[in-house]
Formats: sequence, C-alpha cells, structure tokens
Amino acid sequence: METAEEIPQTANYDESKVPAYTLPDPLLLPGGHPVTDAAAWFEKGRPATFLEFETLMYGRTPSKTLPVRSEILSLNPRALGGKAISQQVRIYFSEQAEPHMTLLIFLPNSQKTPVPLFLGLNFNGNQTVTNEPDVLLADHWVRDNPEAGAVNHQATEASRGTGVENWQAQLITDRGYGLATVYYGDLDPDFDDDFQNGVQPLFYEEGQTRPAPGEWGAIGAWAWGLSRALDFLETLPRVDAKRVAVLGHSRLGKAALWAAAQDQRFALVISNESGSGGAALARRMFGETYAHLNTAFPHWFCRNFHTYSHHDADLPFDQHQLLALIAPRPLYVASASEDLWADPYGEYLAAENARPVYNLLAGDAARDKIGYHKRPGGHDITRYDWERYLDFADAHLR
Ligand code: GCU
Repeated sequence: METAEEIPQTANYDESKVPAYTLPDPLLLPGGHPVTDAAAWFEKGRPATFLEFETLMYGRTPSKTLPVRSEILSLNPRALGGKAISQQVRIYFSEQAEPHMTLLIFLPNSQKTPVPLFLGLNFNGNQTVTNEPDVLLADHWVRDNPEAGAVNHQATEASRGTGVENWQAQLITDRGYGLATVYYGDLDPDFDDDFQNGVQPLFYEEGQTRPAPGEWGAIGAWAWGLSRALDFLETLPRVDAKRVAVLGHSRLGKAALWAAAQDQRFALVISNESGSGGAALARRMFGETYAHLNTAFPHWFCRNFHTYSHHDADLPFDQHQLLALIAPRPLYVASASEDLWADPYGEYLAAENARPVYNLLAGDAARDKIGYHKRPGGHDITRYDWERYLDFADAHLR
C-alpha cells in the first residue's frame, strides 16, 4: 500500500489515452454459460455477480440481526413553512447509547395517502439539510470545515442550512414526496480509524478487532445504515415503503448503489456523480483510479480490494455489473460536465452496458428504466439534478 506522499495525483483526462478494453458480459456466468432468462439471472447470474462485488470490492455485510430500538425525538406538524410534518428519530443498535443514528424525515402535509420518499445519507449533519431550527446538530465526528460551521470535528449552529440547495426539501415535499436523511458519520465516521468507531465493532466475533479482508469497510457500513433507515420507514403509515428511492452524491452515491444492490426493497436508485468505485467504469482508466481510492480512503472498501490498486482492469467485473444488480428497478445515473474526476462518460457507459440485464428482465419496458443526464458544471448535487430525479420518480413511482 502506498504512503500518503505516494498517492497518485495524476489522473488521465485525455480520451485518446483511454486504453482498448473489453467489458465483461453481464449475462455470462463465471464458467462461461450464458444467462438466457429472468429465472436464471435471479438464481445464478445475479448471485454470482453479487458475490464478486462482495468479496473483492465492498466487502461482506454481516447478517447478524441487532437489538435495534428507536426513540422519537421530535415531531413538528408545521415544518417547512407549514407544508410538511417533520420527525426526528434516534435509532440505537444495541442496549448502549452508542452507536446510534438520527433519522430526519419530512412528509408533505398535502398528501392524504402514503407517500413515496427519497432516502439519502448527508455529508455534514441533518442540521445542514434545511433551515429548520429544531433539527438537531450532528452529534458525531464531522470533517473540519470552519467556513461551513464544522470546527474541531464538531457541528456548530453556523452549519445549519448550509446544504439547503443540495437537498431541496421544499421542492421535494411540494411535489408530493417525502424526504429522509441520516448523517453518514453516525454509521461510520469518515476517517481511517481501523474500524474502532461506528457500527463495525457491533459485529466482531470473539477476539476480532477489525473486519476480515473480505468484510465490509465504511461504504458497507453506510449502505447498511440505509437499509436500517428503510426498516424504520416501513413502520410509518404515512410512508409507502414500497416506493422508496435511495440516492447519494459522490462517495454516498457509491454507498447508495451498494445498498440497492444488496437490498432489493429499494424501489428506485439514483447515483449522483458517484464516480470511481461507484457508477464509473474502471477499465477506461479515466479520472480517479483504484490506487487513489485505496490510498486516500483506505477504509472505504474491503481489504481485498487493495490488491487491485494499479490493476483496475484485472477485476473480473466492471461497474456496469454493479448497476445490473439493480435491474429491473429504475436506475438514474447523473454526471456533471466538469466533474472529470468522476468520469462522466464512464458513468454513462456503465449505465448503457447494464442494459442487457434490464432488457432480459423487463423487455420493452426496459428502455425507460435507465435515466441519465450530464448537466453543465462541477461536482455537486443541485436543484436541476433534483428536478430530473423527481420527474423520473413521477414516471416510475406514481
Ligand atoms: C473524493 C474521492 C471520490 C469521492 C469524492 C466525494 O473526490 O476521490 O471518490 O466520490 O471525494 O465523495 O465527494
């Protein structure tokens, strides 16, 4: 493994330097047998593909069921200018106070029947998502960003509302959808602490002190948290848990994709600029490489994945197959033109190359099940992006 000074900073941004490559056929089983119908995909193709991603990239998520309990912290029937009800719920994963995650939920008051909902992790604490004064500050480690109110790894009042543009709670609820979010650091603080904080230690066997080489890293823990949030949403009568879209931006887009690959209850999936290790094809060698991912963020993927630093094309799969694990559920991949680090064209091609699986499972309906846009501008999630996601959700969840 490289030291920090050796982190490869140079990335290829030249389309003419993309090497010749052949993508693995998502409908060929490891032994070379073709998958020719939906039953064979779900019985053989999907499990085989899933096992490879699990073993070599994101790591296995432990399956032990924990003694989860929840505590309602607040209920505000007149949030967002009276248009929504907001609720904060703390979810504990053991008898102890830590670890816990705090789920923030907005549901539109205009809807009389159970609503479809967007669920996503946030980067800087629930208090950044709206200007609502009653939203609790993140109570776990946050990345320092004094200008945005994160000081000494603690969220401060100054951070309230700093992510309003990224979350668009008003727009989402005006369009009849719920919104639920959790601060990702509740599940696993985003620094390399050898997995002593966060949820991993809850799963250690007697004598185990860190995940095994094929077990989950931080992305796995974040994805696990999305499923635990969905467990809670299933208990809310005003939410239609069969119509929950999971979404994430960037590293949290990687987590959203992996959550949806594992948990088929998620009805629709949105990758906002998830890039390398998310929606972008590795074999293009464009933008961020696996060597960079594994050195700058050694805690994100499983340890087996470190073997593929500088060997991006040696994995038996590429990221179009991660997207194929979402089929036949509606999938939206979004890029930004200046976000070359995330390889917009590689994200587009991954979505296109997931189509054979969508076609097999959904026939004529497959065409509209994959959405894509590349908007002008840089690495971000904006109102424009949300408008596209809402239109896509209207087409598939209404
Ligand atoms: C870094 C990292 C990306 C990641 C991004 C983010 O740029 O290299 O892989 O997607 O952070 O999460 O914003």
